[in-house]
Order: sequence, then structure tokens, then C-alpha cells
Amino acid sequence: MHTSKDKNYTLTLTEKEMRDYGYHIVDTLVEHFKNLNSKKPVALGTRKEMDALLVEGIPEKGEDAMQVIDYVIREILVNNDLFSHPKSFAFVPSPSNYISVLADTLASGFNIFSGGWSASPAASELEIITINWLLQIFNFPVKKGGGLFTSGGSMANLTALLAARRHKCGNDFSKAVIYLSDQAHSSNIKAIKIMGFHKEQVRLIPTDSEFRISLNKLSNAIARDRLEGLQPFCIIASAGTTNTGTVDPLDDLSDICKREDLWLHVDGAYGAAAILSKKGARALKGIHKADSLTVDPHKWFFQPYDIGCLLVKNHQWLSAAFSESPEYLRDIEGNESEINFHEHGLELTRRFRALKFYTSIKTFGLESFRTAITHGIDLAEEVELHMRKSPEWEVISHANLAILNFRYNPIQLGLGEKTLDQINQEIVKQITLSREAILATTMLHGQVVLRLCLINPRTEFSDVMEVIELCEHYARDFMERHPGIPKQ
Ligand SMILES: Cc1ncc(COP(=O)(O)O)c(C=O)c1O
Repeated sequence: MHTSKDKNYTLTLTEKEMRDYGYHIVDTLVEHFKNLNSKKPVALGTRKEMDALLVEGIPEKGEDAMQVIDYVIREILVNNDLFSHPKSFAFVPSPSNYISVLADTLASGFNIFSGGWSASPAASELEIITINWLLQIFNFPVKKGGGLFTSGGSMANLTALLAARRHKCGNDFSKAVIYLSDQAHSSNIKAIKIMGFHKEQVRLIPTDSEFRISLNKLSNAIARDRLEGLQPFCIIASAGTTNTGTVDPLDDLSDICKREDLWLHVDGAYGAAAILSKKGARALKGIHKADSLTVDPHKWFFQPYDIGCLLVKNHQWLSAAFSESPEYLRDIEGNESEINFHEHGLELTRRFRALKFYTSIKTFGLESFRTAITHGIDLAEEVELHMRKSPEWEVISHANLAILNFRYNPIQLGLGEKTLDQINQEIVKQITLSREAILATTMLHGQVVLRLCLINPRTEFSDVMEVIELCEHYARDFMERHPGIPKQ
């Protein structure tokens, strides 16, 4: 039995406390958004340093909430990379937006269970509405089509492949074979492994000089597998590879899938949102022919983590894979019925993810998103133009859906491959140590290259140039410190 001495076993606050703490947090967030550009985006911290800073035993007694919040702001929040920073160029940044942050706060505050219709009719309706918006954007059938929000792109890819396998193979997938390119995102391989496929059931198809899946090699692999009595069932195409932003030839892949009766899954976690720009729509031609499509709003739809999305041509494919009750009794009218989203994916208890997407699109309008996405694509092209004019830089893969790869390579010095790899690796090391930008290398054609992903609508040409100048400084400095560096 509790006694009056038990401190606050109901876990409640007074109205004044709630307001004070809440306003303090809002003030902190506003300060963060306002001053983000002048902050250093990189956090450096070893395990040892973080242990020294943060480790503590589980507190039996509570302490003052304001002190806890201030400790979190002072010691915890500051020791993390800022992926929404305009100089965050590595991996896939997450530019985010303040309206969605507020919407996420509301969703948490009301603690809405977005798993089933009867618990949350309005949240479920809003998910149907926003999924329908996305179906329209990608020219998928709205009545027959469906989809759901997930935690991110990895979960959307896994959900898609589970639905594909169920639809094409039923319960026996012992002979099933799946195809994807050597540039496909690792989350697809992870999903394939989780699903229990052996590596003999996976074909990693090489890419051409532009990093697109080789259609010839793909067709040969399918034909060989058929001859061996195997069951090709799915092709995973990339709509914007993470490395280079390359879009696989979607029309051709769709033709192969039709001819061979395969499922076409398009992983557009990175690039699909580009359909909102004219150039992106051209690059993504044929995307509407996919059976399933991963889109990732916490990337290029400017949402804070976590929100991914899966769209499918036929909503019944999802209920067939994930519903524990017969799908024909539940969804006879497709997206016009009362959908239980827990029957369309892996999660039962689900956050109300649709709210932030809805609120931000309502607030800014789709036209703002179109302009924001176009900005990133144009910016990468502008930076490419600059790099091509410079005698110090070599463009390795041209600007593609806001991604550009290049390396420091002053032509007049005729430096050898190993030396170039060393210099480019050193550039990233020094930039990271300076904490001025989040920059990373990747490997293309066996070379170490620098990669820029420029999807943040608040990144300007001058931001990129400041970092490029810093890169040049570190490269020259490295060469001065290593005068004997081999040329070849
Ligand atoms: C093409 C692609 N697919 C899938 C993913 C995985 O998405 P998430 O990190 O949201 O799980 C990424 C992440 O960068 C990606 O670029």
C-alpha cells in the first residue's frame, strides 16, 4: 500500500508546473531553430567521454523536473550531430520543420493509439487521407491502392517484401529468388536476411557506369534461375540510390516484371519525393508502375524522425500478409472502409505519424514542398558546375537528385590513386575534427570520394562553398605536411 510519504506515485504535475516546463522546452526549441546555422553540426564523443559525462545509477528518489530538463538540454542534447543543420551533407540529412515538431508533440501529448479504427477513428481517417495524397502524388490507384506510415525506410522495405513474398509465393518460398542491384540500400539486404532467405536466393546484380542496374545481367540471371527450376518473384529497384541518387530504369524493370510475372518493389526512401519537382519527375519516370513503393517522409518530405511510408497498388496485399482476420471481411471497400492499420503492417501499437505529415502539408502547402525539393536539385547542379571549373576537383558522379560525388585531385600534380584516397579521407577527418560540417566519404569505382547530399532547403550555395574552401585548405595542408608523398 502506498503512503502519503510516497512522492507523487500518480506521476502528475500541477498546472503551473506543466506550463513552466512546457514553455521552457518550447523556448529551448525556438532558440535551437533560430540559432541552428551558427551551431557546429558535428558532435565528437568517445564512449569513455560519454560514460564520464552521463553514467549514473537508477535514481530511487525523484528530483526537481526543471533541473532534469536543464541537465538534458545542457549535457545530452548538445552531444549529438545536428542532421537538420544546413551544413549536414552526409548520409541522408533530415531537414525537418518546426510545425511537424509541434504536431509530434501533440501526438505524444494525447498519446493516440494509431493501430485500429475503433480506438482512433480520426487518426485512422487522417492516415487514409494522407496516404491517399501520397498515392495521388505517385499516380497510384487511390481506390484500390493503399499503404501505411512506418518508423522509416527500413521498416517500409521489410513490410513491402513480406507482402510481395506472401502474394507471389504463398507459404512456400523455398525456391524463391529476389533481385536487386549492388547499389541498393543495405536495409533491403537486411530485410531479406530477416525474412529467412538464404544467400543462394539473392542475386546482387552489377550496375553500369552510371550506377544503374544492368538490365542485361538481370535478364540473364532470371533466365538462368528459371532453367534451374527456381522461382524468381521480386525485383527491388532503387529510385535514388543513397550513394549517387541514381534511379534505376523503372519502365524497363516494369516491363521485365510484367513479362516474368514478378513483383516490382521500388525503394524510393531517398529519392521518391523528388517527383514534386519537374526534373525529379522526369528522372522518376515509370515509378507509378511499381507494385510497392517506399517513400521516406523523414528525409525529403522534411519531417522529423520517425516516419517512413509504404505505398502499394492493392491494399489487399497488405491485409493478406498482415491481417489475422480474413481480409475480405474487413476491407471490401478498400480505402473507403474503416481500416485497422495494425492489419496492414508489422506494428500493433503505432504512433500517430500521419499528424505531422498532414499538419506540415496543410500549413506550407504542397507548392512549398515542390520549391524546397527543386532547390536541392538545382543547388547540387550549381555546385557541380563550380567543381567542374576548378582545377583542384574531379567530379566522379554528376548531380543526381541533389547528390554529388567528387574528389580532390589537382590535375597538374598527377597524383596516384592511393595518394588521392589518402588525401580525400584526410579531408573528411579534418572537417569532422573542425566540427564545421557533417561530411563523409563513400566508395565509387573503387575510389574514395566525397559525397554531398543537398536536400536541406535552408542550405545555400555559400554554405557549400565555405566547406569546399575548408576542404581545399586541409588538402593543401596535408600535402605540405607530407612533402615526400608519392605522386603515382
Ligand atoms: C535508399 C534508402 N533506402 C532505405 C533507407 C533506410 O531508411 P531508414 O533509415 O529510414 O530506415 C535509406 C536510408 O538512408 C535509403 O537511403
